[in-house]
Parts: sequence; structure tokens; C-alpha cells
Amino acid sequence: MARLLRINASARSQGSHSQETADYFQSKWLEANPDGEIMVRNLARDTIPHIEEATIDGFYTPREQHDDRLRDATRLSDRLIEELMSADEILISTPMYNFSVPSALKAYIDQVVRIGYTFGFDEEKGLFGLVKGKRAYIVTASGAVFSNGNLDAFNFLEPYIKALLSFLGFENICFFSIEGTTVDEAALARSREAARNDIDALFAEAPVSA
Ligand SMILES: Cc1cc2nc3c(=O)[nH]c(=O)nc-3n(C[C@H](O)[C@H](O)[C@H](O)COP(=O)(O)O)c2cc1C
Repeated sequence: MARLLRINASARSQGSHSQETADYFQSKWLEANPDGEIMVRNLARDTIPHIEEATIDGFYTPREQHDDRLRDATRLSDRLIEELMSADEILISTPMYNFSVPSALKAYIDQVVRIGYTFGFDEEKGLFGLVKGKRAYIVTASGAVFSNGNLDAFNFLEPYIKALLSFLGFENICFFSIEGTTVDEAALARSREAARNDIDALFAEAPVSA
């Protein structure tokens, strides 16, 4: 049975463009995987706390040496990593806030990017990802238009997510970008339609997980 981890990062419960297109992706995914399981993480509703000093101590202390303080401080990270590792595919829907990821998503990232669990390091290989064999789909929504290149220097959202997921070991990373949501109705309509067409094509090519 295929498992999809869906992570929603928009602060909006109504009218979110990133979630609307992610809903479309999810409906197509369910058609392709009728027995599939979807785990939903709504970062606006179920806020992930920022990592603290004890969390960092826990990250850099071998698990067998954890006392109660470090066990408590890393429990959420353990749970989020276990959830991520149990998924075959992940679907992230995220707005651009101030040219990058919302802090709600960054708090999640800080909990799951963890040495020895989701990435490793050794003298020979250097840094390497430990999240292998999973596909990632990301729906972004931005108020401005970035696809024409004029604002390239301000786009820290997609390049950041792409670099981060590659670092963790994802090899298959696919973006659907909704843009112009606050300033350009025509660009919004175009990008929405393009994203739907790309999603249709993706599932028409080959069932993603079935
Ligand atoms: C706090 C905040 C910061 C934002 N910063 C940017 C930005 O830097 N660049 C941009 O193009 N749009 C920005 N926007 C607009 C959002 O990216 C846009 O409304 C998007 O559609 C939000 O995603 P959602 O529709 O899924 O909620 C910002 C919106 C908010 C609320």
C-alpha cells in the first residue's frame, strides 16, 4: 500500500492557492492509488515548536546516552522523522512568505533534518542524504510572478526547497508553481492551469506509485 505524506504550510484554512492545487494532486494520487494511505500534517493548525537548546543537545548526543531531558526534547523529531520515513512520497504545499518558506515549514524542517537519521557524514563521503527512494512533489504559491525571471534574485523558496530535499537524498523532486496570486490574475489562471496539466500528465504517464 502506497503512503503519501501531505504537508500543508499555508497559514490560511480558506482560499489557499497552494492547498487548492495540492488537493487536485491528492485527488489524482488517490485515483492512481485507491488503497493508498494519506497522512496529513497541517503546520498551521498543529504548530511545530522551534528546536531549543535541549533539542540540539539531543541531536548531537548518541541515542543510547539520552537521559529523560534529551529523550523529551527529541521525541517530536523522532515522531516526525518516523512519519517521513514511512512515506513513499511526499506532497508539500507551501506559500512564499517574505521570499522564502513560511516559518511554520522551517520549524518542521529543523525538526526532521537530523544527523544520523535523515542525513549522514563521514570522512570519506562527506555529507550524504539518508532519505532514499522517495519522490517529492511541491506546490508553491506566490503573490508575485517569478517565472519571467525578473525577480529571480528574490526567489529563495523553490531553490531552497530543491537544495534541501536533494541534500536529504530525494532524487525525484517536482514543482508545481502557482504565481501572481495577489497581483496578476492572468498569471494566476495560467499557472493554475499549467499545474493541473502537469499533474494530469504526471499521472497519465505512469501511475505514480501503483
Ligand atoms: C506574510 C506574507 C508574506 C508574503 N510574502 C510574499 C513574498 O515575499 N513574495 C510574494 O510573491 N508573495 C508573498 N506573499 C503572498 C503569498 O505568497 C500569496 O498570497 C500566496 O498565494 C499564499 O499562499 P496560499 O494562497 O497557499 O495561502 C506573502 C503573503 C503573506 C501573508
